[in-house]
Amino acid sequence: MLAAISHDLRTPITRMRLRSEFIEDETHRSRMLDDLDQMRVMLESVLSFLRNDRRLESMTLADVASTLQLITDQFGDMGRKVVYDGPAHAMATVRPDDLHRSVTNLVENAVRFGAEAVIRLRVSDDRITIDVEDDGPGILDAQKLNVLEPFVCGDDARNMDEAAGFGLGLSIANAIVLAHGGALSLHDRQPHGLVVRIQLPVHQQSIAA
Ligand SMILES: Nc1ncnc2c1ncn2[C@@H]1O[C@H](COP(=O)(O)OP(=O)(O)OP(=O)(O)O)[C@@H](O)[C@H]1O
Ligand SMILES: [Mg+2]
Repeated sequence: MLAAISHDLRTPITRMRLRSEFIEDETHRSRMLDDLDQMRVMLESVLSFLRNDRRLESMTLADVASTLQLITDQFGDMGRKVVYDGPAHAMATVRPDDLHRSVTNLVENAVRFGAEAVIRLRVSDDRITIDVEDDGPGILDAQKLNVLEPFVCGDDARNMDEAAGFGLGLSIANAIVLAHGGALSLHDRQPHGLVVRIQLPVHQQSIAA
């Protein structure tokens, strides 16, 4: 039902977008367009969350290090401070698009709550570890498990600034990591900030760093 409603709302939103072009007052027009954009983004995120539960990308050998460097560049292009720390190459059998989405969701949060984000990659014999770190306020221990649930956002996220979402980013990232047979966990960073750790199992023969 949620999928059907989200899907159907897209059409009237598109119509409203066209109509709002006729609003003469420029301030009103641009605010209206911003609101409509926000509604569209929310619907897209609900739809992609619901889709994600059903459709799984297939596992392929991919360079996880270049995926992470690509994400770093993509945020850099948007004027965000993101640094990659890790090897230049690290081959592993993963779902590349899903992994890209998962880490992107974490970096989106990191640059929203902190000023700078670091994506760290470590490769060992049996697993790869991806840490997304920020220098923001972090998350209280009591909330760490909660925020992995869908539709949970912190109080500060409730007031709808342009970055506020539906509370789906972390739960999507977690679902993707679980589907890889991995684990996602939240940790405190010193002196402040959050570390989101993704650990994925790898087979010995697929590591060729
Ligand atoms: N790096 C972080 N630092 C501090 N708080 C965080 C961080 N990442 C997530 N949170 C908290 O966890 C909540 C849930 O995060 P999640 O990414 O699931 O949803 P969202 O960012 O609110 O919305 P969406 O990702 O759907 O746009 C956030 O609202 C915020 O309160
Ligand atoms: Mg988010």
